[in-house]
Amino acid sequence: MSSTKYIVLSASLREGSRSRILAQGALDRLKSAGVDVEWIDLVDHPLPQCDGGACYGDPRLHEFKTKMEAAQGYILATPIYNYDVNAALKNVIELTGRDVWTEKVVGFLCAAGGQGSYMSVSSIAASLMLDFRTFIVPRFVYATGEDFDEQDQASETIGERLDGVCSELVRVTEALKGD
Ligand SMILES: Cc1cc2nc3c(=O)[nH]c(=O)nc-3n(C[C@H](O)[C@H](O)[C@H](O)COP(=O)(O)O)c2cc1C
Repeated sequence: MSSTKYIVLSASLREGSRSRILAQGALDRLKSAGVDVEWIDLVDHPLPQCDGGACYGDPRLHEFKTKMEAAQGYILATPIYNYDVNAALKNVIELTGRDVWTEKVVGFLCAAGGQGSYMSVSSIAASLMLDFRTFIVPRFVYATGEDFDEQDQASETIGERLDGVCSELVRVTEALKGD
């Protein structure tokens, strides 16, 4: 296996988060595929709010950004808030910028309250593509409460979608590395 690194980033700050369950499913799959993958939960990484200035010198950001820069492929698991990714994930993208995202590969996993917000990652996906030439995996997981049972186990269909996103993430990331 080549030295490609992957990160699964869970952006929800909520205990009992469903997007974190999706992220853990992705982590398990990537580990089973034998790739070098690291888990990052934003709950464990209190970061400054992006102010476009002093935040970039914050020591909490330095360590986080170094970790993020080391990977080539990312799974970003996010709650959908107000028809968008949550503020914590948007803050990470604002704080880290081109050093982390340029020509990297990103797949999204979303937990939402209803079907109507299905296109909600479009805005951040386009921003990453157009700002940083990030490659977005053209497949994502979108799950609502109906996709989980009473024990918060994701359905078989969600499992199949996770398989698809994870295998495409690895396929595209390896292909772009070209070694
Ligand atoms: C502030 C806020 C805004 C939300 N906005 C939306 C929304 O626009 N569309 C939607 O489908 N669900 C929305 N929801 C529901 C969440 O997406 C849903 O509870 C999801 O499971 C949260 O992700 P998590 O379980 O990983 O924390 C919102 C929830 C909150 C708290």
